[in-house]
Amino acid sequence: MIPRISGNKLLNSISWLNHPYEFLDRALEQYGLTFTLNMPTLGNALVTGDPAYISEIIKNKHLIGGRGTRVLRPLLGDDSLIILEGHTHFSRRQILTPFFKTSYIRQFDSLTFTATLDAIEKLDKNACFSVFHTVRQITLKTIIRLIFGTMAQEKEKTLTQLVDAYCASFQNPLFLFLKILHFNLGKFSPWGRLQQNKKALYKFIMDEIEQRNAVPDLKPSNLLNELIFAAHQQKANLDNDSIFNEVLSLLLFGHDTNAVTMSWLFYHVYQNSDIHTKLKANTGNPQQVAEDLGPDNRNFLKACILESMRLCPVVVHLTRVAEQDTLLLERTVKSGDKILPCTYLAHHNPDIFNTPYAYKPQRFMSDKEYYHSFFPFGFGARKCIGEQLALRQMQIILSTFIRETHLELDANFKCNPERQLLLIGPTHGTMMRVV
Ligand code: HEM
Repeated sequence: MIPRISGNKLLNSISWLNHPYEFLDRALEQYGLTFTLNMPTLGNALVTGDPAYISEIIKNKHLIGGRGTRVLRPLLGDDSLIILEGHTHFSRRQILTPFFKTSYIRQFDSLTFTATLDAIEKLDKNACFSVFHTVRQITLKTIIRLIFGTMAQEKEKTLTQLVDAYCASFQNPLFLFLKILHFNLGKFSPWGRLQQNKKALYKFIMDEIEQRNAVPDLKPSNLLNELIFAAHQQKANLDNDSIFNEVLSLLLFGHDTNAVTMSWLFYHVYQNSDIHTKLKANTGNPQQVAEDLGPDNRNFLKACILESMRLCPVVVHLTRVAEQDTLLLERTVKSGDKILPCTYLAHHNPDIFNTPYAYKPQRFMSDKEYYHSFFPFGFGARKCIGEQLALRQMQIILSTFIRETHLELDANFKCNPERQLLLIGPTHGTMMRVV
């Protein structure tokens, strides 16, 4: 019998939304790796970090992804890859995948490197800075270049400002979940400001699509051009509005997730002086590290990144919805119920990860594979399309910081997990200073 989380549904919901790590720590201790719950924001859900369940979930064709991210529709529209299902999801993914392969993304290594050097140069000695805010400027630059190709400097600057303004308009994590806040009183209400900022981005991207549409021999040399080509050929349900939604979603996911992940990474590395010293002694040329650490290679820098993602996964759980009554390890999940494969629970399973709350990069130095127990980028047909890009950027950015500057955590910084919409990051994105 699978245990069911008891207690007041509303209080559980608030705790789940505001303090998911704490909520899951308590649940793990009390109920183990698998339990059910019912909350107003979720409905009925089976939550699991048990590798046996995860293995079944990956294989099961009746558990549908995409619906769990519906809460993002007001931000991203309803037809970007992360939200699509079935054949449209498959064909959209086929169009996008080549732009995230190692052979394509390695051309952005030097941009990430120089953007990191620029960011370091701008840091005031002894002044406090947020890792999240510093890193997101670097990752945003790269994803803009990947999507749009090289644009005039002024245009790139305008687009950066528009994305910054849009991201700033949904900082409060409860904003999306509470529909009661979705009223538009123009610039006087948060929802109104969000709509205005989205409109400005829409105009920029639509102008860009129209200008490119007018080019007679447009080359599919960047992701936006490829989407425009695909729309001409009536592939993957694409029209100008869905191109806008796709571009918007890639712009947001393509920079924010790795910036939040890096806030945890800097916290873990700089909190452990032995680890930091070892990294400093071992870090080679930052532009070369991503090449040395190809997808299958193991070394200490990559191990530090993976261990940080294990300990503090920014995506706490994935969401699948049963499209019909479905048998899962002798338990029937009812049609419409949710299954949450839970990264946080799986990553803290004491049977797999000895002393699960300790930061020990050595775990990822051996050949051991953590099948079904470690999935910070998700799994199966919906696995993160940006995994290799994110890993390359993290390696380059961290090794550049380590080689080029001397940092320490700000003495007043108290690290607590905080929700940033769907992601969980450290307070203020980890506050540090150059010494
Ligand atoms: C460290 C950084 C990142 C983390 C931890 C992360 C995590 C994830 C996870 C867990 C999923 C699976 C969601 C699910 O199964 O429902 C996902 C999907 C996705 N990610 Fe990432 N991601 C990161 C970086 C990126 C980057 C750089 C991009 C680039 C554009 C990106 C784009 C996407 C997209 C488009 C999907 C949807 C894939 C699909 O449904 O087919 N992510 N990501």
